[in-house]
Amino acid sequence: MSGWLITGGCGFIGSNFVRLAAARRLGPLLVLDALTYAGNLANIVDLLDGGQVSFVRGNVRDSALLAQLFARHDLSHVVHFAAESHVDRSILGPKPFLETNVDGTFALLEAARTAWNGAAGRRLFLQVSTDEVFGSLAPDEPPFDERSPYRPNSPYAASKAAADHLARAWRHTFGLPVAVANCSNNYGPWQFPEKLIPLMILNAIDGKELPVYGDGQQVRDWLHVEDHCEALLAILAGGRAGATYAIGGGDECPNLAIVSAICAEVDRQLGRPAGTADRLIRHVADRPGHDRRYAIDAAQIARELGWRPRHRLLPALPGLIRWYRDHRAWAEAIRSGEYRDYYQRQYGGRLA
Ligand code: NAD
Ligand code: DAU
Repeated sequence: MSGWLITGGCGFIGSNFVRLAAARRLGPLLVLDALTYAGNLANIVDLLDGGQVSFVRGNVRDSALLAQLFARHDLSHVVHFAAESHVDRSILGPKPFLETNVDGTFALLEAARTAWNGAAGRRLFLQVSTDEVFGSLAPDEPPFDERSPYRPNSPYAASKAAADHLARAWRHTFGLPVAVANCSNNYGPWQFPEKLIPLMILNAIDGKELPVYGDGQQVRDWLHVEDHCEALLAILAGGRAGATYAIGGGDECPNLAIVSAICAEVDRQLGRPAGTADRLIRHVADRPGHDRRYAIDAAQIARELGWRPRHRLLPALPGLIRWYRDHRAWAEAIRSGEYRDYYQRQYGGRLA
C-alpha cells in the first residue's frame, strides 16, 4: 500500500493530522520532523507502536535524506506542514523562516518531482499554507478567497508566500500534482504555547500577566484544528491538482474578546471570583506591521468537496481550557526549556 509523507508531523497541526489519519487507518504514515523548538515527539509518541505511523528525525532541506525516503517508501502523498510558523519569531529573526519555509519547500518539491516522474496512480503534494499570504483586510472588505492576490506583510507570511509560488510553478512547469491549502488561524490541543490562545490560557491559570498587543481589536478567523485536518483529508481524497483551497471557520473574533472569554472561563473553572484573571490583561507595544484583520470565504471547498467546519471558538473554549489543565506536564516541559529565553526576549521589554 502506498504511503503518505507527513512533514512537520510533530508540531501542532501536523500531530493532530497524524492522529486523525491514523484513526481512519489512512496511510501508512511516515512522519519527517526536525524536532525544532516547536516539534515534540510526545505529541504522537503513543501512535508509533501500532505499525501504521513511523517517524524519521530529519530536516526537509536535506535532499539526500528526502531522496532516500522516496526510494525506500512508495509515497503517493506528501502533506507538507513543516515550517517556522510564529510571526513574532519571524520579526525577531527571519533567517530560519527562509531556510525552512522556502529552501525546505524547494527541496521537497524537487524530491517529489524526481521520484514521481512518470509514476502511475493518484499522487498529490499538498502544500499547507496560510491566509496570511493575502495580507490584511479593512473592517468592511469581503473575506479572502482563492482569487485574492498575494500581499504578505510579515517575514513569516512572505516566506510562506514564496513557498506557495514555488509549489504553483512546479505544477505549472513540471506538471507536479500540487494543491495549496490557505487556512486561517487554528486552535485546539497540542498548540505550542507561544500562540495567542494557549499562551493566554496558561498565563491566566498561573496568574501571570496577559500581554495584548496594541488595542486588541485585531480580528482573526478562527478554525478548530480538527476542522482544518478534515479539510486537508478532503483535499487529499478528492482535491484537484493545480487548485488552491481557502479554508476558514467563518468565525471572526477580536483578540481582546477572546482573552476576556478565556479569563471568565478560567475563573469559573478554578472557582475564583469573577474578574480575577481580567485584571492580568496588559495592553503592550504592538507587533510591528501587525495585520489588522483576516477572514476567509470557504465557499469553494464547501461546494467542491462538501467540507464544512463543525466547531465554533467561544463554545469550544471551556473544553480547550480543560485540555490544557489536564496536560500541565506537557506544557511545563515546553515552558521550562528554550521557551523561557524566547518569552523574555519577546515580552521582557513590553511588560517591564
Ligand atoms: P508548528 O510550529 O506547531 O509546527 C511546525 C513543525 O515543523 C514542528 O514539528 C517542527 O519541528 C517542524 N519543522 C520546523 N522546521 C523543520 C525543518 N526544517 N525540517 C523538518 N521539520 C521542521 O506549526 P503549526 O502551527 O502546526 O503549522 C503547521 C503548518 O500549517 C505550517 O506550515 C503553517 O504555516 C501552517 N498554518 C498554520 C496555521 C496556524 O494557525 N497554526 C494556520 C494556517 C496554516
Ligand atoms: O492566520 C493563520 C496564521 O495564524 C498562521 O499562518 C500562523 O502560523 C499562526 O501563528 C497564526 O498567526 P497569528 O499571528 O495570527 O497568530 P498568533 O497566535 O501569534 O496571534 C494571534 C493574534 O493575537 C494576533 O493578532 C497577535 C495577537 N497576540 C498574539 C500574542 C502571541 C497578542 O495580542 N498577544 C500575544 O502575546
